[in-house]
Amino acid sequence: MRSTEEGLQAVDQLVRTYSHSCSWFLGPFYSLVRLFHPDYIKPLLLAPASITVKDELFYGFLRPWLGQSLLLSNGEDWSRRRRLLTPAFHFDILKNYVKIFNHSSDIMHSKWRRLVAEGESRQDMFNHISLMTLDSLLRCTFSYNSNCQESSSEYIAAIFELSTLVIERRGRILHHWDYLYWRSPEGQRFKQACSVVHGFTRTVVQERRAQLLHRGEPESHTDTTGGEEKKKKRVADFIDLLLLSKDEDGHGLTDEEIKAEADTFMFGGHDTTASGISWVLYNLSQHQDYQDRCRAEVNDLLQDRKTEDLDWSDLSSLPFTTMCIKESLRLHSPVSAVTRRYTKDMTVPGGRVIPQGSICLVSIYGNHHNPEIWPDPDVYNPMRFDPENSKDRSSHAFIPFSSGPRNCIGQKFAMAELRVVVALTLRRFRLTPGGVEVRRLPQLVLRAEGGLWLTLETLDTPISSPHISPLLLVAKFLN
Ligand code: HEM
Repeated sequence: MRSTEEGLQAVDQLVRTYSHSCSWFLGPFYSLVRLFHPDYIKPLLLAPASITVKDELFYGFLRPWLGQSLLLSNGEDWSRRRRLLTPAFHFDILKNYVKIFNHSSDIMHSKWRRLVAEGESRQDMFNHISLMTLDSLLRCTFSYNSNCQESSSEYIAAIFELSTLVIERRGRILHHWDYLYWRSPEGQRFKQACSVVHGFTRTVVQERRAQLLHRGEPESHTDTTGGEEKKKKRVADFIDLLLLSKDEDGHGLTDEEIKAEADTFMFGGHDTTASGISWVLYNLSQHQDYQDRCRAEVNDLLQDRKTEDLDWSDLSSLPFTTMCIKESLRLHSPVSAVTRRYTKDMTVPGGRVIPQGSICLVSIYGNHHNPEIWPDPDVYNPMRFDPENSKDRSSHAFIPFSSGPRNCIGQKFAMAELRVVVALTLRRFRLTPGGVEVRRLPQLVLRAEGGLWLTLETLDTPISSPHISPLLLVAKFLN
C-alpha cells in the first residue's frame, strides 16, 4: 500500500482484476477487506452506527489531537454528539457563512493579482488554497480573524505539523507503538503541536462561555427590519452553536467536548476542501472549453450586479460549474478511503460474509475509478453528472463525502465553499497548466507531489478591475 502515484495505479489494477473486493494483508499484524464496488459498499456504509466502530489502525493516531470527537467516537456517545451537532450545519446557519467564503476568496485573489503583476504567475494552488480554507474555517468556527493568508501564525503552523506527523507515523510501523512513538523526536513534536492547538481552542471556548453568560446569545444574522439597521451583533459561529446546543434532557456539551469538536472541524474541514478546490482548478486548467463554459455561467449570473459577492441563493444557479466540481470530486476525491470495523458479520452480494471484527476499507478512489461503473474512468467528463446521465447510476457510485449515518457532517458547508471559490476564481482568472508533470500524492487528503502548480492570468472583470469606480467601491463596502 503505497501513498504514491504508483500506489494509486496499483489500485486501478486491483479494481480491474477483482472488480468488487479483495482481501489484503499488512505484514503479519493486520488484515483487511478492500471494497470498490457500490453494491458491496452500500450495505457497509448504510449499516447502523451501533454496529460500526472506527478502527484504531487508521483513526487511532488522530486521537491525541482530536480527542473523543464526532469523527472518532462510537456507539451511543457518537449518536448523542451527532444529534447535538447536526443543527449547527443547517442551511439557515450555513448561508451566513457564504459572506465569509466571498471575503476569504477576495483576500486570496488580491494576493494572486499582486503576484501576477510582479511576474510570478505560476503558483502552487495547494499552498494558497489551504491557507484560504483555513482562514474561512477559523472565521466560521471561532470568529477569529487570523490574517493567516498574509502572515504566518503559530496555530496554523501547528495544524500543518500535526497533519504531516500523522501521515509519517502511519508509514513507520515501529511508531505504531505508543511507547516508542512518544519517546521519538516526531512524538515530541506531535505533543508540542498538540499543546499549541489545544491551548488556542481551550482559551476561545472558555472566553466564549464567559461572554455568553454576561452578554447573552449572539444573533445568527444582522437584523435590518424597519429600514433602520439595528445594532450589529456578531454572527453566531460554530463555537456559539455548540455552547448553546442541548439534548432532549437539557444537557449540553462540556468545554472539553466542544474543544474536541472544534479541533475536528479544523482538521476535517480545511485540507479536504482545499484539496477539492485545487483539483477542480487543475481539471479546468486542462479543459479550457469547460473552464470557459463555467466562466460564462458565473458572468451571466453576476451581470448587472453592483458587487461580485455570491450569496446562498446564487449557488443553485451554477449547474454546469457544480457538474464540473462533482466530476473533479469523483476523479480526484480528496479522501481516498474510509475504514470501519463491524461488531457483527456483514453480508455482501452473492451471500459472502465479512466476519465480525474484520477491518473493511471502503475505497472511495477504487469505487470512483471502477470501469464497471464509470466508463473511461480516467477521463474528466462533467457531463457524467448531467441529471439525465446520472439517473440510472447506483446511489453509492459517487461517495466523496462517504454515506449513511456516518457521512460527512460538513458536506453542505464544503459544497457551498467549493462553489463560491471556484466561481469567483474563474471570473477573475484564467488558469492554464503549470508546465510540470503532476503526480498524485494520496496522504490524509489527495495532494500532488511538490505542489499543484498552475499558471494564472488576471482577467479584467467589470467590478474586480483595479480601475473600479469609487461609487462601486462604496456599494461593495456597504454590502
Ligand atoms: C471537500 C470537503 C470534504 C470532504 C471530501 C469530506 C469527506 C469526509 C468523509 C469521507 C467523511 C467520512 C470519514 C469517515 O468515515 O471516517 C467525513 C466525515 C466528517 N467530516 Fe468531512 N469532508 C469535507 C469537508 C468537511 C468540512 C468542511 C467539515 C466541517 C466543517 C467536515 C467535518 C467532518 C466531520 C466532523 C466528520 C465525521 C462525521 C461523523 O463521523 O459523524 N468535513 N468527511
